[in-house]
Amino acid sequence: MQLSDKNFVFKNDPNHIMNCFISCTKQISSKSQLLFTLFFLSVNFGFAQADGGKVFKQNCAACHRVDEQKLVGPGLKDVASRVPQPADEWLFKWIKNNLALQKSGDAYANKLVSDNNKTPMTVFDGVLSDADIKAVIGYIKNPPVEKKEAAKATAGGEQPQEKGFNIFTALIIATIVLLILVGVLGGVKKNLQTIVNAKKGLTPPVPISPIKWASGNKRLVALIGILCVALIARAAYHALMGIGVYGNYKPVQPILFSHQTHAGKLAINCVYCHSGAEKGKTAGVPSANVCMNCHKAISEGPKTGKVEIAKIYDAVGWNQVSGKYDKPQHPIKWTRVHALPDFAYFNHSQHVVVGKQDCKNCHGDIAAGDEAKQFSPLTMGWCIECHRKTEVPGMATNPYYADLHKKLAEKYKGQPITVEKMGGLDCIKCHY
Ligand code: HEC
Ligand code: HEC
Ligand code: HEC
Ligand code: HEC
Ligand code: HEC
Ligand code: HEC
Repeated sequence: MQLSDKNFVFKNDPNHIMNCFISCTKQISSKSQLLFTLFFLSVNFGFAQADGGKVFKQNCAACHRVDEQKLVGPGLKDVASRVPQPADEWLFKWIKNNLALQKSGDAYANKLVSDNNKTPMTVFDGVLSDADIKAVIGYIKNPPVEKKEAAKATAGGEQPQEKGFNIFTALIIATIVLLILVGVLGGVKKNLQTIVNAKKGLTPPVPISPIKWASGNKRLVALIGILCVALIARAAYHALMGIGVYGNYKPVQPILFSHQTHAGKLAINCVYCHSGAEKGKTAGVPSANVCMNCHKAISEGPKTGKVEIAKIYDAVGWNQVSGKYDKPQHPIKWTRVHALPDFAYFNHSQHVVVGKQDCKNCHGDIAAGDEAKQFSPLTMGWCIECHRKTEVPGMATNPYYADLHKKLAEKYKGQPITVEKMGGLDCIKCHY
């Protein structure tokens, strides 16, 4: 909803051009800030940290998270303050060869293992170089804020606007800056000329009126005029058509759920999870309990291992060890991908059950990708176009339409009866 509300205000705002300008300048400043930050990060921290992150992802992430949550091994938040000091030295020995450290009689190491006493930690001696181990220690002591969290905060609406910043906007801004510069330099030149003239004892020239100037510079005036008209036309066009149409919009989701794995490879029916699509207005996104029908037994997948499935357990409070729901629950906050504005009415079951439309017609091949993305533009024109060309299926045999069909069949003898002919273009059908 957040998305659509925002667009709607944006689209109907008479100050659209101004808004556009402000948001462009904001984007420029935030972009240059970003560049600056990236630059300083790379200068200050060198590449050790980036390597540590990579080593962690490839070797540790399957069993550890950097926050307090336990996967196979303990959550590594603040680990440096709980292990024997000096922490770096102990961590190095542990990560390199935890078995050797246990055998050496290290009390903390032995306690760790006896507390856990299930899947043991891998020995990395010979797998990771000393430099890798040092880098990964640096990383777990000081992990960067999780990228996903940051992205989620912007996924609500800022993300798609990124598209607005293109070469065209850059050119417009460059032109404006140039014009201002020309103006300022012109002023400076004039002042200098006055001073020089005064020194030479000449009288200052009569100031030229803007109209006179314009008639002397017809070409320049025409050029500026054309540019202005083009800008206004473009802004108007975008206000009407472009902005708010998020083709391929795909936010970052809290769990890396894969449609390809579930609807593609495993061929689970769409309505097993989106059961609302046949029953009512909204298709809905499944609750984590639906996931648990299968994931009580399946804790590992081929793409993301145990990490993502562990988030389902976290959501429903499932304790893999006790086999009970005895932990606190944290509902999964899926980010909505599709959102029509409130003033438009769309009903899934009318299209899926009565209209016999395949999910694919409107959502594309969802099973080909992982997380869902917006496939169709969801504009009014898109709805209308399909209503114009699609025949109402089973009109003759559907008892729901018995009366209507008789009337329409008489009126449009022999012609196919499309949704349009049934009244599917009446404003009131889609706008209450
Ligand atoms: C196969 C799973 C697994 C992998 C891979 C793994 N660990 Fe562990 N880790 C564990 C387990 C389990 C423990 C708890 C001790 C035990 O039972 O061996 C542990 C303990 C630790 C501890 C001590 C935690 C504490 O609370 O004191 C640190 C630090 C650690 N691991 C770091 C790493 C790093 C760094 C990597 C990657 C280079 C890594 N681990 C890879 C399973 C793993
Ligand atoms: C009908 C059974 C079923 C349901 C329901 C189900 N899953 Fe799965 N899921 C599986 C199976 C089976 C796998 C492992 C696939 C494999 O090994 O190829 C899997 C794998 C996964 C993976 C790991 C993917 C990978 O490729 O590594 C994630 C994450 C996941 N599921 C999340 C979810 C979420 C979230 C839900 C609920 C919205 C859910 N699943 C519902 C059967 C199911
Ligand atoms: C005629 C086009 C059309 C068809 C067919 C269709 N959808 Fe949708 N779907 C939409 C539109 C439009 C929205 C946005 C609805 C809104 O924001 O109110 C949507 C939204 C969704 C959502 C987001 C949650 C919701 O209900 O708003 C899911 C999930 C979904 N569709 C699944 C499906 C599945 C599964 C099928 C097939 C069984 C299907 N859709 C068939 C047009 C369609
Ligand atoms: C892929 C084609 C397709 C698209 C896209 C589509 N529709 Fe439809 N729509 C149909 C069909 C087919 C029917 C006839 C269903 C029936 O028999 O009631 C229908 C019927 C309707 C009806 C009932 C019309 C009536 O006379 O009772 C409404 C309302 C409606 N659609 C709204 C929408 C809206 C809103 C959108 C866009 C967000 C949309 N539709 C997009 C195919 C489509
Ligand atoms: C195992 C459960 C499962 C199955 C099967 C499944 N989905 Fe989904 N679907 C989800 C989950 C979980 C989400 C939310 C995460 C996301 O957006 O990727 C979702 C999201 C969606 C969305 C976007 C909803 C929004 O926020 O607007 C659409 C559209 C969708 N699914 C369509 C389909 C279609 C079409 C199929 C069949 C080809 C299908 N799904 C099969 C679980 C499932
Ligand atoms: C088949 C469904 C359908 C019908 C019929 C329909 N509309 Fe719409 N209309 C929509 C949808 C969906 C949107 C939202 C589109 C968007 O957000 O870009 C919309 C948006 C609008 C808007 C807002 C424009 C905007 O860009 O936000 C107006 C005004 C409007 N419709 C007027 C009408 C009028 C007048 C009629 C009758 C001639 C009509 N509509 C018939 C589906 C329909």
